[in-house]
Amino acid sequence: MHLKALVAAFAATQLATAQELMRFGCSQLTIDRVDPLVNPGTLPSPHLHQIIGGNSFNASMTPGVLDPPKQSTCTSCTYSEDFSNYWTANVYFKARNGSYKRVPQVTNLGLGVQAGMTVYYIRGYTASAKVTAFPVGFRMLVGDPSNRAANKVPSGLCFRCEANMAQSPFGGAPCTGSDTKNFPKAACGGGWRVTVTFPSCWDGKNTDSPDHKSHIAYPASGTFESGGACPSTHPVKIPQVMYEIIYDTRQFNAKADWPADGSQPFYWSHGDNTGYGIHGDYVFGWKGDALQKAMDTKCSGDNCKALQRQSDAKAIACTKSQIAKEDIGTDKWLPSLPGQTM
Ligand SMILES: *[C@@H]1O[C@H](CO)[C@@H](O)[C@H](O)[C@H]1NC(C)=O
Ligand SMILES: *[C@@H]1O[C@H](CO)[C@@H](O)[C@H](O)[C@H]1NC(C)=O
Repeated sequence: MHLKALVAAFAATQLATAQELMRFGCSQLTIDRVDPLVNPGTLPSPHLHQIIGGNSFNASMTPGVLDPPKQSTCTSCTYSEDFSNYWTANVYFKARNGSYKRVPQVTNLGLGVQAGMTVYYIRGYTASAKVTAFPVGFRMLVGDPSNRAANKVPSGLCFRCEANMAQSPFGGAPCTGSDTKNFPKAACGGGWRVTVTFPSCWDGKNTDSPDHKSHIAYPASGTFESGGACPSTHPVKIPQVMYEIIYDTRQFNAKADWPADGSQPFYWSHGDNTGYGIHGDYVFGWKGDALQKAMDTKCSGDNCKALQRQSDAKAIACTKSQIAKEDIGTDKWLPSLPGQTM
């Protein structure tokens, strides 16, 4: 087997051998102070995000007004019928003198895209059960940027301190083993692998809710992984969406640059120094019934008969310029986090 394919197969089977899962790369679409889910129409939004997916991404994405598969002309995801948008906060390093620099993202194992994220749609162990794809206009949020308590971080959101870029030895399924809900406290030789997992049950009616969460739920008992059934209030089993983001912290590993008291020097772009404000946003935008076909035919990996796949180069070429133009601290140090007073 080709090394790349081997690595991809290895990474996919790592998650859980018995699960059906799509795992594919999406290059960076843009990094922008825009949030059409929580702050629609607000330009700039309160904090910076890193975004992947269809290039119809905009400050406002009102269902019925903006239809991502119709209005996008490209997507940064390798499945070319996926014009959804996926985003999280950015990570910054704070130097001893108080300046900030953005921690770059890098490609995950076995994928050929640039920066961005790895996206999973997981059917789960009960492979015979019907999994219902999201309807047009569907969107959701997991986690909370204002949270500063470990016990309020939902399960399935976590940090893994990687020893090296090969992510070896493998640390087990996401959010198990030594994975943490807080930012890693040590300097990590392979950066961080950050996992953001959404709930897998839906009320079957609402495409959104005021908190962007109440229309979705976790299984009533057990977990998604153990095949737990959905609660009666949210009876519809949806794909479990999961993001993996590799933040390459290596250029910031010199202990001499870390705070003298030994505390860790990283911040989410919303000013959180604990990591507990970890969150992810999702706006559905698959073309037609492509995602339903993918679920019904049990697509796996990043190539599937039921779906169209574009080249990695085409995914990489799909970018969008900043809407809220500002310096984001990629090459030079910033006196404060974009949009924040700290
Ligand atoms: C994005 O929003 C702006 C302003 O609301 C609008 O002019 C523009 O056409 C939108 N772009 C897309 C791709 O929908
Ligand atoms: C702050 O510290 C960083 C990292 O050591 C350094 O590169 C930068 O020049 C410093 N900035 C100022 C304004 O002193």
